[in-house]
Amino acid sequence: MSNEWWRTATIYQVYVRSFADANGDGIGDLPGVRSKLDYLADLGVDAVWLTPFYTSPMADGGYDVADYRAVDPLFGDLADAEALIADAHARGLRVIVDVVPNHTSSQHPWFAEALAAAPGSAARDRYLFRDGRDGGPPNDWESVFGGPAWTQVPDGQWYLHLFDPAQPDLNWRNSEVRAEFADILRFWLDRGVDGFRIDVAHGMVKADGLPDAECTEQASLLTTRSLPYFDQDGVHEIYREWRKILDSYPGERIGVAEAWVPTAERLARYLRPDELHQAFNFHYVEAEWSAPVFRRVIDESLDAVAGLAAPSTWVLSNHDVHRHVTRYGGGEQGLRRARAAALLTLALPGSAYVYQGEELGLPEVTDLPDEVLADPVWERSGHTDRGRDGCRVPLPWSGSEPPFGFGGSSWLPQPADWAALTAEAQHDDPESTLSLYREALRQRRALPSEGITWDEAPDGVLAFRRGESFTCTVNFTSSPVTMPRPGTVRLASCPDSELGLGADTVTLPAESAVWWSGDVDG
Ligand code: GLC
Ligand code: CA
Repeated sequence: MSNEWWRTATIYQVYVRSFADANGDGIGDLPGVRSKLDYLADLGVDAVWLTPFYTSPMADGGYDVADYRAVDPLFGDLADAEALIADAHARGLRVIVDVVPNHTSSQHPWFAEALAAAPGSAARDRYLFRDGRDGGPPNDWESVFGGPAWTQVPDGQWYLHLFDPAQPDLNWRNSEVRAEFADILRFWLDRGVDGFRIDVAHGMVKADGLPDAECTEQASLLTTRSLPYFDQDGVHEIYREWRKILDSYPGERIGVAEAWVPTAERLARYLRPDELHQAFNFHYVEAEWSAPVFRRVIDESLDAVAGLAAPSTWVLSNHDVHRHVTRYGGGEQGLRRARAAALLTLALPGSAYVYQGEELGLPEVTDLPDEVLADPVWERSGHTDRGRDGCRVPLPWSGSEPPFGFGGSSWLPQPADWAALTAEAQHDDPESTLSLYREALRQRRALPSEGITWDEAPDGVLAFRRGESFTCTVNFTSSPVTMPRPGTVRLASCPDSELGLGADTVTLPAESAVWWSGDVDG
């Protein structure tokens, strides 16, 4: 396996409970992931990131961990995790696992101890317990999932939970907490994982004295302002310690920050040479479908890492946001745009993330019945926000009706019209989204190593080259646009028949991207 694999890697996000269900209980599991490794190798990704599969009461889909060193029976056991890592490695796929250090589950033994202990005790000091203020919570902080970030316990104290009350925040100024997580990292590194995706990497340290945020509607993952509980400078000390642990293992073991921070410059701080290897680019996720917006985000992202050894990352979707087919307008138009965005994304220098199902062109499921909604956001928002279940609907693999080869009857129902979107239905269709991703990922391995240079392009079109031999054009507009022809077509997001190729010009169809090689003579 090559050195510094993570600089250009395409990393596929597996949301374990919705990927593949091997034992037929309707919930995806580790043996299910193992059974699909050939699919992932054939798709052409370099690594797999597995969302949490640890022991959990599943108050937040496993992001509420009760035992960081054990596999929840829902997902298998430790032997399944070890076998999955070994089988992935045998196919040349790296494995990244989630670590959830900002909070534990309220069913973690530490929290049970804290509840049983007295205010001011060592057991309480592992979390953030405080006395209230004027009969209410200690300060004005709000939970990301809605409502106050504090819950009161019977003796009158309050504990902090930036997410669900079932996810109490840890106190990262406590040395026992730090030692425990260093040990958890080693536990998984000893089992061969190639890195960690660090959940809420921007949240672990809170401002001294827990001052008021002095605003309302504070907490959203897509935060744009600075808050006393996010992106505090103290978090970087933790990553410097973790980097030493990662570097003490052979091979290139990496840390990836899930950090929702206001600017690309703030994000770059997580990527200093003695900290983490990558950080998710949420500004790219948030970009609306428009040429100037994408160009600005791409430039800012590249500028932010320009002075650093770290690569930029490119992310279109994950398990927390609406799928981009739907964000870009849904239906035929959303899919056209999503396919164009895929070619744009996979043409950029750095590391790209693919969220399970985007290679099938899956849309968000927006009409899940109320009674199946499992995301705590639905309850915490007083049923005003339907939450994130619509991007977590189990994948359609094969066959003509639900559960489409997923396994048992799926924990969230799949739309009947996904019959046309199964991996099986798309596999041999050269115009399918799956074929587009497979071909793009194959070609991506041989793209020039150079960064991007923007070329002149008509309004609404982005054109850039990497080196002399590769150009990418994207027509964001909803009409065809004619421009000088950059070379020979290597790959297009639209059917080849739609491309208006002249001797020296090309008419780019609406909402499409093309990869070109060399000059017109090829
Ligand atoms: C991260 C996860 C999200 C989870 C939250 C709390 O943002 O991606 O799914 O709800 O952290 O752990
Ligand atoms: Ca299962």
